[in-house]
Amino acid sequence: MKVLVTGGLGFIGSHTVVELQNEGFEVVIIDDLSNSSEDVLDGIVAISGVKPHFEKLDLKVKEDVISFFKKHSDVAGVIHFAASKAVGESVNKPLMYYENNINTLVYVLQELSKLNTQNFIFSSSCTVYGQADELPISENAPVKPAESPYGNTKQIGEEIIKDTCKINENLNSIALRYFNPIGAHFSAEIGELPIGVPQNLVPYITQTAIGMREQLSVFGGDYPTPDGTCIRDYIHVVDLAKAHVVALQRLLENKNVSNYEVFNLGTGTGSSVLEAIQSFDRVSGKKLNYKIVDRREGDVVAAYAETKKANDVLGWKTELNLDDAMASAWKWEQKIRNK
Ligand SMILES: NC(=O)c1ccc[n+]([C@@H]2O[C@H](COP(=O)([O-])OP(=O)(O)OC[C@H]3O[C@@H](n4cnc5c(N)ncnc54)[C@H](O)[C@@H]3O)[C@@H](O)[C@H]2O)c1
Repeated sequence: MKVLVTGGLGFIGSHTVVELQNEGFEVVIIDDLSNSSEDVLDGIVAISGVKPHFEKLDLKVKEDVISFFKKHSDVAGVIHFAASKAVGESVNKPLMYYENNINTLVYVLQELSKLNTQNFIFSSSCTVYGQADELPISENAPVKPAESPYGNTKQIGEEIIKDTCKINENLNSIALRYFNPIGAHFSAEIGELPIGVPQNLVPYITQTAIGMREQLSVFGGDYPTPDGTCIRDYIHVVDLAKAHVVALQRLLENKNVSNYEVFNLGTGTGSSVLEAIQSFDRVSGKKLNYKIVDRREGDVVAAYAETKKANDVLGWKTELNLDDAMASAWKWEQKIRNK
């Protein structure tokens, strides 16, 4: 079965391509390489022994999306990762974020809606919950006003899919709300490749440990948490990737109970920033150089997933823990810097 993975050379997309190929799917990747590189294909081949079909294409170009779907009208499903994802950048370049994250989604849905088989999986985010009133956060928690244009694109994206599903009963879709994806494939053939200064904690930790950055700043040590630092739900990217295969199979086997479903993807365990650093120190044998500084605007205090729906309904749960993720991220960092 042929599956289209947009943004398939990116961090989460590349790991998902590997898991899809492991399950025997034929994968077609679309990526414009705006935040990835064609070398990622070599990593995918090294792990799975199969080279996916790749089309370098910008999904903002409507005509290209139209001709792609004409050529590949036999796709059994689409997993839509392609988006710009830097929260800080989105504050300074809101129109770029709305253009890329919304237009690409609309164009893909428009063309998918013309096909006989219409299965669609969307990369959403726990940012839709903002600072939730209750922890762990269930899928029923209200969506809070977005803190950034990036976060808003995920909320609007979900609305666009929901509205389209209302009038198109042939469209079956699942929005997956990721908590904090980290780590890399155990083989260190693929991983996260942040361009410039990393915006996320784990690449910043590994870049500091390898000597690219002097010191990690921990934003805020006076939050109302046991050790004063923010709490997040760090999920291993390989676990996350596997959830996409399970979600796709749910749609292909018509197991979905409505044509628009939402699932949280997290471990269900919250870890503080200091616990994440301790985990890194433990698996790397290093002592990370960090300093607690002032709070950063826009950070929620604590967010971790209620995983019951994903466990019971989707039939998926995480198998890897924070140490596994840190060890794999560290192995990946060492590999790319020693190249
Ligand atoms: N990484 C996270 O922490 C996180 C958390 C929640 C949700 N998400 C979402 O998951 C998805 C994947 O995230 P990621 O971390 O793998 O990001 P990523 O940047 O590594 O991957 C996205 C890929 O999409 C490609 N792309 C972007 N715009 C495109 C366009 N117009 N046409 C074709 N390709 C395009 C990029 O080149 C990149 O390879 C994104 O939608 C992101 O918003 C990520």
